[in-house]
Amino acid sequence: MNLSVPRRATAVAALTVLAVTGLAGTTATAAPPSAQTAPAAPAGALAAPDIPLANVKQHLADLQSIATANGGNRAHGRTGYKASIDFVKAKLDAAGFTTTVQQFTYNGTTGYNLIADWPGGDANQVLMAGAHLDSVTSGPGINDNGSGSAGILETALAVSRANLQPTKHLRFGWWGAEELGLVGSKHYVNNLPSTERSKITGYLNFDMIASKNAGYFVYDDDPTLEGVFKNYFAGIGVPTEIETEGDGRSDHASFKNVGIPVGGLFTGASRVKTSAQVQKWGGTATAFDSCYHSSCDTTAAVNDTALDRNSDAIAHAIWTLGTATTPPPGPVFENTADVSIPDNGAAVTSSVTVSGVTGNAPATLKVGVDIVHTYVGDLVVDLIAPDGSVYNLHNRSGGSADNIVQTYTVNASSEVAGGVWKLRVQDKAAIDTGYINSFKLTF
Ligand code: TRP
Ligand code: ZN
Ligand code: CA
Repeated sequence: MNLSVPRRATAVAALTVLAVTGLAGTTATAAPPSAQTAPAAPAGALAAPDIPLANVKQHLADLQSIATANGGNRAHGRTGYKASIDFVKAKLDAAGFTTTVQQFTYNGTTGYNLIADWPGGDANQVLMAGAHLDSVTSGPGINDNGSGSAGILETALAVSRANLQPTKHLRFGWWGAEELGLVGSKHYVNNLPSTERSKITGYLNFDMIASKNAGYFVYDDDPTLEGVFKNYFAGIGVPTEIETEGDGRSDHASFKNVGIPVGGLFTGASRVKTSAQVQKWGGTATAFDSCYHSSCDTTAAVNDTALDRNSDAIAHAIWTLGTATTPPPGPVFENTADVSIPDNGAAVTSSVTVSGVTGNAPATLKVGVDIVHTYVGDLVVDLIAPDGSVYNLHNRSGGSADNIVQTYTVNASSEVAGGVWKLRVQDKAAIDTGYINSFKLTF
């Protein structure tokens, strides 16, 4: 079936395109981005469509034809690689994505990454999914990694068919020269200015998702991203395990190395399935993919069930994470007056008066604590609600570390919001001293 593609405004100024794809500018020093803020069960997320297996398989058949027409492979520096890039790019361009081909040089030949941005969403919250598009020279690379490439391609096309208006900005990436050491993804990340890196709230990697003798492995890096995949598989009754066949062996490592939260799926490479895993998933106690990095990694080496489930899981993750609505932060009350903390002495407090907030405090009351002190192991820190209820935030842990500069999340849903809230601090051991620098509540 030939589905019609909704058209979107694509008249975007060249400079905007550069800013959106994050490809502008030169390499900046690695700076860890701010912490992942997506909640475990994102509010307001839309349900993903079923990804048609036939479409994903057609992409694999097309990649197989490309390999066959180009000496049997789609490897870096070979004609089959560039033909693969052109094939994926044409589909995305026709679907209304803003695509960018990024070139690099490796082993004396030109390599290519393809970046596809879906117009819209919050440019400061970018959700990325990626897959390496290159094969090894010994075969057409249909499971490794036509499968991940086709899975994210069909998910991107489904985004277009749905004319999805996500809350996050969606970006898809197809990486070159992964098989030669994650070269393309490293090049992308290294050329991303730190301001652009910090906007990426998560990177999802799909490298080998249709191994013939499949296992269902989920990367255990970022808990939110891991949880979204685990929930999907729990919902369809398929047990998963944590991916352990070589952490850092695919492109997510390039993102993880600069502090970007990562997740992903994997069905296994040359490792042998255990008898316990055969019990769990079926198949045989042989390699997950007996054609790994071989000439037999063709369309015949693909497990349709695994390809179908994992493609649906990709869409589930993009929809769940990409369309979640994070409620805007409520009013903030702050006291920035310094309060000195007597050494090994009585407790002191800093107060804020909350007014104009009706009802109870939230289950996720954010308590911003800024205490300057030379030995945090001396300190007991409590939040005191207007009715005197005590919530302990810190109890002499952390030893000789300096300062407590932290935002605690407190379930204060049983407290009336209005009234005087206190941060109480007591220094319980001699010698080291300090002061409360500020105390802040965000409702
Ligand atoms: N990236 C490897 C390849 O392309 C395959 C691989 C091995 C892998 N271990 C992994 C992929 C763990 C993802 C996770 O040849
Ligand atoms: Zn691979
Ligand atoms: Ca002290």
